[in-house]
Amino acid sequence: GRVLSVTSECVPLIKTGGLADVAGALPSALAPLGWDMRTLLPAYPGLIDQLGAVTEVWADSDLFGGPACVLLGQIGGAAIMLLDAPHLFARDGGPYGNPHDFGDNPQRFAALSWVAAQISATGTTDGWTPDIVHCHDWQAGFAPAYMDLCVDTKAKSVVTIHNIAFRGEAPGAALGSLRLPIEAFHSDSLEYWGNLSSLKAGLAHADAITTVSPTYADELMRHEFGFGLEGLLQYRAADFHGILNGVDETVWDPQTDPHISKTYGKASLARKQHNRTALMAEFGLASCDGPLAVVVSRLTDQKGMDLLVAAIPDFIAGGGCLAVLGSGDPQIENDLKSLAKAHPGRIGLRIGYDEALSHRMFAGGDAVLVPSRFEPCGLTQLYGLRYGCVPVVALTGGLADTVINATPMALQDKAATGLQFHPIDALAFGQALMRLIALYSDKKTWTGLQKKGMSQALGWQTSASAYADLYEGLTV
Ligand code: ADP
Ligand code: GLC
Repeated sequence: GRVLSVTSECVPLIKTGGLADVAGALPSALAPLGWDMRTLLPAYPGLIDQLGAVTEVWADSDLFGGPACVLLGQIGGAAIMLLDAPHLFARDGGPYGNPHDFGDNPQRFAALSWVAAQISATGTTDGWTPDIVHCHDWQAGFAPAYMDLCVDTKAKSVVTIHNIAFRGEAPGAALGSLRLPIEAFHSDSLEYWGNLSSLKAGLAHADAITTVSPTYADELMRHEFGFGLEGLLQYRAADFHGILNGVDETVWDPQTDPHISKTYGKASLARKQHNRTALMAEFGLASCDGPLAVVVSRLTDQKGMDLLVAAIPDFIAGGGCLAVLGSGDPQIENDLKSLAKAHPGRIGLRIGYDEALSHRMFAGGDAVLVPSRFEPCGLTQLYGLRYGCVPVVALTGGLADTVINATPMALQDKAATGLQFHPIDALAFGQALMRLIALYSDKKTWTGLQKKGMSQALGWQTSASAYADLYEGLTV
């Protein structure tokens, strides 16, 4: 079968978070299962050049106010279709803004969704018509609505919720400019608390809905996590599935990683020490007998970074040290700067986005901290597991599904892979950090924990089969 994956980010072309990793990994995970996936995303500046030879496979003289075409090319064996629409996407800054969100984001991503719906109906000019349109997050949320309401298509649609905190809202008055029919402006379709929401539209119209972990799927049907969409998700429970994200093991493998000082594996764990020493030097940290904790994260409220600021001084006093790589909320950035200043040689901070450095952090770190308030799946704890960098995580969403807490029983059974804490507050996080210090000082238990984590099956095989089964069920 054929699948059109519709996304605003995709590794290695453009990434601000985990969505890009997932969209980038799906095509090669699904190919062996007989699913030919093409990825459709906007041609942000510089992307077309990265594809090499391209062919035009779709065009329109007026896509929401300007001419547009779709260019097909290849990257790393995957078929990529770039939506070239300069009036919407030829802009400096990130994919969503510079630095604040672009005012016409509803139109920009509705255009992407519109093109997906058109291609589902007519195919591309090289004769490729999808059986499934797989839409990621609010950016592709209108596609199932257009497929249902505006075009004649046989394709089925799937929406994956990566993060319900973003719902693609726009005023109801934008309906016309978004080419949506006024009759559908009601609470079973496009309307969300008096506004339009592209995510809501996707959830109402998709043939199936998924999210990126089983626990987050359960959480989304509850009031505390659902942002008012819990009722719709309960109603659609029979079509709603939690499918855990995997790790792209060709990119994240300490045995072959080109970004790290010394490669290592389970059987050569002592070599990880070189990476630790190199990372401490890179962050200007003094030698430290306690655990070196790392954080690689967007610095936002979701990620619980204020809990980090509150809990870290005791961890430092207890003998630990910390290296942080991230960017985001200016307030959190400032708090982290003050913290680093108060603990010279013990806390290192890099504000920014640096893919290669992120690899060195998992390779050099003893533990990765993920104190998220909610986490649909989370990828850095998975990278930590792969790299023997023990995860310390909040008990929520995908963090609950991927880490086995080092309770006395789990340690005795040699099943533990990390530490979890609950409730999600600074006190419980601080207590977990004290447990981390104690575990780290018991070398035998510690290496057991690292090796158990490194032995987990975290690749895409299982989840790719789950997606393939879902597609199959929709197309029979
Ligand atoms: P989210 O998508 O909510 O940000 P995930 O854990 O799913 O959370 O994915 C985050 C991805 O972005 C991971 O691949 C992580 O390594 C990467 N990342 C986050 N911040 C940075 C940064 N400052 N530099 C490099 N990579 C980062
Ligand atoms: C989102 C979520 C994150 C998830 C990622 C990929 O950005 O915040 O938890 O891992 O999407 O699915």
